[in-house]
Amino acid sequence: MSLEPRDPLAIYAERIRNVLDQQLPPADRFPARLHEAMRYATRGGKRLRAMLVYATGEALELPLQRLDAAAAAVELIHAYSLVHDDLPAMDDDDLRRGQPTVHKAYDEATGILVGDALQTQAFQLLAHEGIDGLTANQQLEMIRILARASGSVGMCGGQAVDLAAVGQRLSLAEVEAMHILKTGALIRASLLLACAAAPTLDNDTRERLDHMGKCLGLAFQIQDDVLDEEGVTEELGKRSGADRDLNKPTFTAVIGLPAAKQRAESLFAEARETLSDLPGDTSGLQALINRIQQRRH
Ligand code: IPE
Ligand code: IPE
Ligand code: MG
Ligand code: MG
Ligand code: MG
Repeated sequence: MSLEPRDPLAIYAERIRNVLDQQLPPADRFPARLHEAMRYATRGGKRLRAMLVYATGEALELPLQRLDAAAAAVELIHAYSLVHDDLPAMDDDDLRRGQPTVHKAYDEATGILVGDALQTQAFQLLAHEGIDGLTANQQLEMIRILARASGSVGMCGGQAVDLAAVGQRLSLAEVEAMHILKTGALIRASLLLACAAAPTLDNDTRERLDHMGKCLGLAFQIQDDVLDEEGVTEELGKRSGADRDLNKPTFTAVIGLPAAKQRAESLFAEARETLSDLPGDTSGLQALINRIQQRRH
């Protein structure tokens, strides 16, 4: 018997790797080029959103298995958002997760289709007939949460604001609203998806977790802006300094590096405050907040 201490994040990472591997179409299934590219697009990555689904589930005393579809679905939407974000019409990036971006490794049309196919696959997973431990209404609620977070009042909306603001000077309130949509919405949804799987969740706990999701989501993108300024390409796995080169509306451009860092720190502290009083094991959430706060890529 192993006496190794339990590492929740390693458990979640292994779990989501297996779920995605099982759920994505085999790379050699017709049309093979598209399926291969879908797998390429979902390789690597820190899997933080899937981990947030699992960790929130554990804080709510839910079995992880009940959350597999939701964890995979949010990761698929995230992977799709990155593939499209990197396209020449958007951020025009050549490097992602230390590898050529999908449109570089394949071609632009494949990049567009990979994003489309990953997005629809996410909803197909949530709509799967009879997910163990979930009622049809709970599955429907998950679909609603993810659709809202992905669409024009969520990630896509934030991306539209981002592109429209290139070269403009945004106010702090505007850049914050943009970050809350383009990145915050999916991170917040990760926690809400787990909430949707809890049959007897009281409103107060849901609201606290929702607040944690909002804090983490905004902090995450502020930190992404900071890393774009301070990080190095080799460690980031994506091109550093790209925001400045493209005249992107970032938190650091609006309030400067030190103030941006300070804001992220206070949001992480606020996220931690909401950890107390959750019914289940919060060690996964605690470890995840630490990992996100300390990330260098
Ligand atoms: C990068 O997200 C894009 C943003 C929303 C800032 P992650 O840093 O979570 O990307 P991966 O999945 O680990 O590559
Ligand atoms: C991405 O923001 C947000 C998404 C919705 C994909 P960024 O454009 O800053 O993400 P990176 O830096 O390319 O990962
Ligand atoms: Mg972008
Ligand atoms: Mg980008
Ligand atoms: Mg960035």
